[in-house]
Amino acid sequence: MIRFRLPEFITRHVLFALIVGSMAGIGFVLFLVEFDHISSTEAFCTSCHSMELVAEPYRQSSHYLPESGVRASCGDCHVSEGVFAASWDHLLGAKDLFAQLFGPDYDDPAINALHLPEGAFEARRWFRKTDSRTCRRCHIQDAIAGSRPATLSIHLEEAKGKTCVDCHYNLVHRPVPDEKTFKRDRWNRMIEKEFGLESGAADALLAD
Ligand code: HEC
Ligand code: HEC
Ligand code: HEC
Ligand code: HEC
Repeated sequence: MIRFRLPEFITRHVLFALIVGSMAGIGFVLFLVEFDHISSTEAFCTSCHSMELVAEPYRQSSHYLPESGVRASCGDCHVSEGVFAASWDHLLGAKDLFAQLFGPDYDDPAINALHLPEGAFEARRWFRKTDSRTCRRCHIQDAIAGSRPATLSIHLEEAKGKTCVDCHYNLVHRPVPDEKTFKRDRWNRMIEKEFGLESGAADALLAD
């Protein structure tokens, strides 16, 4: 009769540790899946980014109100696919929490608007670094035919060596100029006017 035998070094204790260990591992991955799921929702993101700068323009955009009903959520664009990549993004996102708690008072709309450009530049850098991978979940570059004759060839030829957000920025949030042409001074004066602040107040707020 053939008997199944475990190797010598697998004692009962090792076996027990292996079983408990793998159950904990599976449990942890399930936890990550659930955690990523909850922390990618619009409700979670807008618990902080609730303001007119980010969420309101998004709700007017064609990504929120598409004719087809295929809606892109915050996490669809900002959080990578796959449990580990998504968990990593959330780990990086923990610095948001740190900034929220210990940084400037982002709940003040003027302060928030003053800091917006850096957020936009940071976000664009992330999209460049990832080659707009999250956009490509829904959009296939070779298939962007559009409604005009040139659109397909733009995406097949001119888009080579570039990434989506190089051409398509200011897609769903309050517009921020390209980093190369951005003028801090002009932005500060604009925000002062918008919020009825004295001239120079913006620079003082940023210095805090
Ligand atoms: C605990 C509050 C909080 C939550 C929840 C939160 N954020 Fe943030 N987020 C912040 C703060 C504070 C900043 C820093 C603002 C700045 O640097 O001007 C920030 C910055 C950002 C930036 C700018 C780029 C960067 O990396 O600094 C992006 C993009 C962003 N958040 C997206 C999201 C998305 C998407 C979600 C949901 C998955 C989310 N945030 C959830 C508070 C939060
Ligand atoms: C269709 C993709 C897309 C969706 C959906 C989306 N974003 Fe963004 N987000 C971007 C891009 C692209 C940028 C880079 C800045 C720019 O050009 O607008 C950005 C920038 C940001 C920033 C940096 C500050 C700013 O306004 O530029 C924050 C914060 C942010 N997003 C949060 C969110 C939150 C919260 C949601 C959901 C309410 C959301 N995003 C939905 C694509 C998206
Ligand atoms: C969840 C799927 C999804 C994701 C993720 C997504 N899109 Fe879209 N996008 C759509 C749909 C659907 C439409 C068509 C809107 C309509 O039906 O009117 C669209 C429309 C567009 C348009 C044309 C309309 C406009 O608002 O200018 C551009 C450009 C675009 N997307 C670029 C991007 C870029 C760049 C990203 C990544 C930052 C991105 N999309 C991420 C689904 C998505
Ligand atoms: C070299 C710049 C460039 C790059 C890179 C680029 N696009 Fe475009 N895209 C354009 C231009 C310009 C248009 C408008 C074409 C027109 O009006 O004929 C356009 C139009 C679109 C449209 C709308 C088509 C329609 O008419 O309904 C979508 C969606 C889109 N792009 C998505 C993307 C996505 C997703 C990426 C990355 C995979 C991308 N684009 C990369 C330049 C670019």
